Order: sequence, then C-alpha cells, then structure tokens
Amino acid sequence: MARRDAAAPVIREAAPAKVNLFLQVAGRRPDGYHLLDSLVVFAAVGDVVSATSAPDFSLAIAGDEAPGLIGEDDNLVLRAARALAAAAGVGQCAALHLEKALPVASGIGGGSADAAAALRALTRLWDIPEEVARRVAPQLGADVPACLVGHPLRMTGIGEMIGPAPALPEFGLVLANLRVPVATPDVFRRLAGRFSGPARLPEGWADPAAMAADLARLSNDLEAPAIESCPAIAPVLAALAALPGALLARMSGSGATCFAIMPDASSAARAAALLPASWWRWGGGLAAPPAAPL
Ligand code: C5P
Repeated sequence: MARRDAAAPVIREAAPAKVNLFLQVAGRRPDGYHLLDSLVVFAAVGDVVSATSAPDFSLAIAGDEAPGLIGEDDNLVLRAARALAAAAGVGQCAALHLEKALPVASGIGGGSADAAAALRALTRLWDIPEEVARRVAPQLGADVPACLVGHPLRMTGIGEMIGPAPALPEFGLVLANLRVPVATPDVFRRLAGRFSGPARLPEGWADPAAMAADLARLSNDLEAPAIESCPAIAPVLAALAALPGALLARMSGSGATCFAIMPDASSAARAAALLPASWWRWGGGLAAPPAAPL
C-alpha cells in the first residue's frame, strides 16, 4: 500500500445504496445496451469511501462485505480515481479506503455508488470542477451518473440521462439480499424483448400508500429474468411482501437485492429485524440529500 502523509486531510464520502423503485426497459440499442426508465432513490445505508493524498494510487478494503471483493484486481473505485485524474489533468495520486457494507453485485449500486463517492471525494481533495466528475461518470458504468447525484431522480437513456423525480413523501425501505451475486449482463440477456416501455408518472405523491399503489402498476422488467437466473430471489420477495405494513415488494436493479416500501423509517427498521438473520437485511429511511448535489 502507498505511504500516507499523516498530516494530509482525509476526505470521506458516503456511497448510499441505490434503489430502483421501478425499472422499465424501453428498448435496446444496436450496441446491446438497453434504454431504461427508472425512479431511483438512495437509502440511508451504504459504503464509505475515504481519500487522502499519496504518492501512488492504492485501495484498501474493509468492512462486513469486503470478502465479496477478494480477488478483484481492478476495482471500480481505482478506475474512477485514475479516470478523474486523467480528465482533470492533475498529476496527483491518492490512497483510497473503501468501507464495504453493501453486498457485492446485488442491484443496489455497490460498485457504482463506490465509484461515484470516489469521484466526489477526489473532486474535493484535488479542488477540481464538479463538471469533470460528471463527464467521467458515464464512462465508468451506466449507474454511476445517478449515484453521483445521490438524491431521488428519474433515470432514462441507458442510465446517463438524469431528470427530476416526482415529489416524494417520506417513507421507509427494507432491503434484503441472500448474498447470491447476480451477473447484470446475464439478466439483460435473458430479458429477450420483454419490455414494458416508458412509464407515465404523476407530479408527486402525498403519502407512501398512494405512491406504492401507483408503483404497483409499474414494474422492474429485470425481475422475471433475474428470478429465472436465480430462483432464490422469489422467496425473498415473498418474505418482504409479508412484512407487517409492507406497501410493495420489488427487486432493485438487476438483483438480487429486493426491497419493501414501508410507511416510515421506524416501521422499516422493526420489520427488517423479522427477516432471517442469515440474510443481509436493513430497514430505515432515505439518505439525506447531499448539501451541494453534483
Ligand atoms: O454499465 P454497466 O457496466 O453497469 O453495465 C453492465 C452490463 O449490463 C452491460 O454490459 C450490459 O450488458 C447491461 N446493461 C444494459 N443496458 C443498460 C445498462 C446495463 O444492457 N442500460
């Protein structure tokens, strides 16, 4: 690992879990990427990325879910750091630290959230324009631009087009995952044309029940192909739907993490404790929007 200067500032950035409240596929581009329509929110749980100046680029990984990354030699955090340095023309490096709390390859951002947090941290550390991070983000993965924003948004295009979300009420989320990684390209391959198309949304919802009722009419088009690839997702969805107070249960992204929409953060926290302790499970509210969204 690179030497750290004990006096150098350490910049910390949260990498909250991304949750797709719905995700409908609208088409497929000639290059194989799919056109999406998704309402994305961020939960108050996630990884943490820290960055400090150092003579070389390095990445140390710790935390409960760190074992899921063992053997990975090209982590997206390091790729993000190198891409940002190149785009900004800064001749600097950084020692990065990733505290991994989110399960790997699980449809809630994970690597994309970490890459976005690294871009935010290094933008601050190197004092470079936020616009450079916005330019680099889409090159790192389809979800990275959304994770860079970090507050509720409507995602279209292949993920790179970010628009405003409808006005959202306060609500809670329970997240659950069996720690079975799902390969995103495999799920998209199995989709085979089962597209719901773009969604029609109101300007906002006054309460969680009204929001869940509208969302129930929409879908995550990747849910059926993900269950075909990983049948263990189905009982997770059933367990979430059966939680007391659950308003809707659905899969996020390409899976395998599923979520329940709950009336509030405290009922979500209580409900999460009812799920099997062997699962990765969490309940609470949404992440606070960053003070100055990128
Ligand atoms: O961009 P990212 O690396 O996250 O995408 C992983 C894979 O998911 C892509 O290689 C592609 O197979 C699929 N994908 C897609 N359409 C998108 C996003 C991802 O087909 N909008």
